[in-house]
Amino acid sequence: MYDYLIVGAGLFGSVFAYEATKRGKKCLVIDKRNHIGGNIYTEEMDGIQVHKYGAHIFHTNNQDIWNYVNQFVTFNRYTNSPVANYKGEIYNLPFNMNTFYQLWGVTSPDEAKQKIETQKQAAHITEPSNLEEQAISLVGSDIYEKLIKGYTEKQWGRPATELPPFIIKRLPVRFTFDNNYFNDRFQGIPIGGYTKIIDQMLKNVDVQLNTDYFDKKQAFKNLAKKTVYTGMIDQYFDYIYGTLEYRSLHFETKRLEHTSNYQGNAVVNYTDRETPYTRIIEHKHFEFGTQDQTVITEEYPQEWKPGDEPYYPINNTKNNERYKQYKALADQEENVIFGGRLATYKYYDMHQVIGAALATVRKEFDDN
Ligand code: FDA
Repeated sequence: MYDYLIVGAGLFGSVFAYEATKRGKKCLVIDKRNHIGGNIYTEEMDGIQVHKYGAHIFHTNNQDIWNYVNQFVTFNRYTNSPVANYKGEIYNLPFNMNTFYQLWGVTSPDEAKQKIETQKQAAHITEPSNLEEQAISLVGSDIYEKLIKGYTEKQWGRPATELPPFIIKRLPVRFTFDNNYFNDRFQGIPIGGYTKIIDQMLKNVDVQLNTDYFDKKQAFKNLAKKTVYTGMIDQYFDYIYGTLEYRSLHFETKRLEHTSNYQGNAVVNYTDRETPYTRIIEHKHFEFGTQDQTVITEEYPQEWKPGDEPYYPINNTKNNERYKQYKALADQEENVIFGGRLATYKYYDMHQVIGAALATVRKEFDDN
C-alpha cells in the first residue's frame, strides 16, 4: 500500500513526491504521457536540449525557491531578451528605449514618453471596451499596430476588437536601454535540461508512465491512502458542470543540419497577422550552444477542443464560475489533494507551481 498516489509527473506532482518521500512516505507517480516532467520536459537532440512544450525560462524573485531548484541542477546565466520581427523589421522586447529608437529614432526617455503620450491622447479613449482600445490607451497606436495587434489576434484566434480588455491589464514600458524581459532577481536555464530536475526529484520514487488515471480510477485509488491529483479538474468530476475551456498550441520542430545559427536569438516573436506562427524558438541559444547544426520550433496557437493538449486556461467569467463549482466539489472530496495548473485551472509559472506545491507539502505534513 502506498501512502500517496500522485497523478501527473509534472513539476507539482514531482515536488510533492520528492518531499513526501523525504519524509519517509511511499509514493507512486503515474503519468499518461510517455515521459516525466509534464510541460517542462526537455529532450536532447544533437546535444541541444529541446523544450518540447514551448520555451521555458526559469525566473523568480524568491530566494528560497531559487535555492530549492538549485539543489537539483545548476543553472546557466541565460537572460530572456526576445526580439520581435514585424514584416522583416526587427524590434527589441520588452518595450524599452531600444524599441523606441527602432520605431521612431528617438534617443531620450523624454522624447519617447512624449511620443507615447501624444498617441494615447490622439486616440481619445476613456473607457476601453475591447483589447484594441485597452492596448492603445496604455502604449499608443504604433506599438499596438506593430508589436501587439497581430500577435495577440493569432494567440486568441479573434480580432482584437472582439477580445475583452481585461486580457491586457498592464503593458510594461521601460524608459531604459534594457532588453531583459523579466524584472526578477534570478533567472536561467538548467544546464542539462529541465528533465534533469524531475529525474532528480523522482529518483527514489516509483513511476509508471503511459498510464491514464481514468482507465482504472478506482483501482488506482485503492493503491494508496491518499491521492494527489494534478490533471484537469473538470475531467476528475466527469465534466458534470461542463467543460473548462483552454487555448491550445501546436509545435513544429525542425532540425537544420547545415545551419549552425538560424536566427541569432532563442526567441523571435512574429508580430504580424499573416505569419501563421507566433514565434520561433531556436533552442541552442538557451544554452549558448556551439553545435554545427540547430533545432528550431515554430509555435502555432490553435483552438482547443476536448482531447487536445490544454495550454492556456481561458479565465473569463463563464469559466471561472464553472471552476468555482468544481472547486467546491474538490473541497469535499476525501483523501484527494488537487494541485498544479490543470487541477486549479490557473496559469502558473514554474516558480509559482513550486511555491504552491511546497505550500501543499507544509499543509499536509504540518511542518511550517
Ligand atoms: P503539468 O501539465 O506540467 O503536469 C501535469 C501532468 O499530469 C502532465 O504530465 C499530464 O500528462 C499529467 N496528467 C494529466 N491528466 C492525467 C491523467 N488522467 N492520468 C495521468 N496523468 C495525467 N513557466 C515559466 O516559469 N517560464 C516559462 O518560460 C514558461 N513557459 C511556458 C510556455 C508555455 C507554452 C506554457 C504552456 C507554459 C509555460 N510555463 C512557463 C509554465 C509551466 O509550463 C508550468 O508552470 C508547469 O509546467 C506546471 O506544472 P504542473 O505540474 O502544474 O502541470
